Amino acid sequence: MRIVVFSALGGLAAVACVLMGAGNAVADDFVPGVVSSNGTITVPRVDYRKDWAFLGTYTADGGKGIGFHSVYSQRETVAHYRKTGVFPDGAVLVKELYDTKSGDLTTGAVRWASGLVGWFVMVKDSKGRFGENLLWGDGWGWAFFKADAPDKTTTKDYKTECLACHEPVRATDLSYTQGYPTLKGPGR
Ligand code: HEC
Repeated sequence: MRIVVFSALGGLAAVACVLMGAGNAVADDFVPGVVSSNGTITVPRVDYRKDWAFLGTYTADGGKGIGFHSVYSQRETVAHYRKTGVFPDGAVLVKELYDTKSGDLTTGAVRWASGLVGWFVMVKDSKGRFGENLLWGDGWGWAFFKADAPDKTTTKDYKTECLACHEPVRATDLSYTQGYPTLKGPGR
């Protein structure tokens, strides 16, 4: 009888350990290098310019001169999106904001990226992992970073700082996919 009781307790402890371990593992392994276990978002620590896929660029004339918005995502995200038309859980969209310079080159009047101003980052979370965290909701994590602080977002609440501007593209999961040829298919 005693053996039965002990083994039952041991079994429970083992189950509890597995559950707790799995809980941490899920949060820590969700998107390593971008999302921490409590839902803090950083600019991806990987060399996304070299190792991720370039999705496309928007040119923005916001009154303060013309800026470039260049967007990157993981290669697996591109493969999944091309196959299914949806962003997979853990998809990261990184938008770099650039000031530009202009001048006459041999092609004519042109413009090129100069200083990096900051990053907008979105992380797909279809499971609502981070509950009441104000950077998470509507299927994504949301954060902005100034160029000198890629680990510390200035965003406090995505609902007031991000969502309204992304509502027009709710049909494409709140992302402006029309500007990303990479998601549509190969270049030739
Ligand atoms: C003033 C409106 C506006 C606000 C505020 C805004 N966005 Fe956007 N966002 C856009 C538009 C429009 C685009 C696509 C065109 C462009 O880049 O100009 C875009 C593109 C993006 C992209 C590139 C991927 C995609 O969805 O197309 C990311 C990432 C992004 N925004 C994140 C954010 C985050 C995070 C916030 C809040 C901190 C935010 N945005 C606030 C309007 C806005």
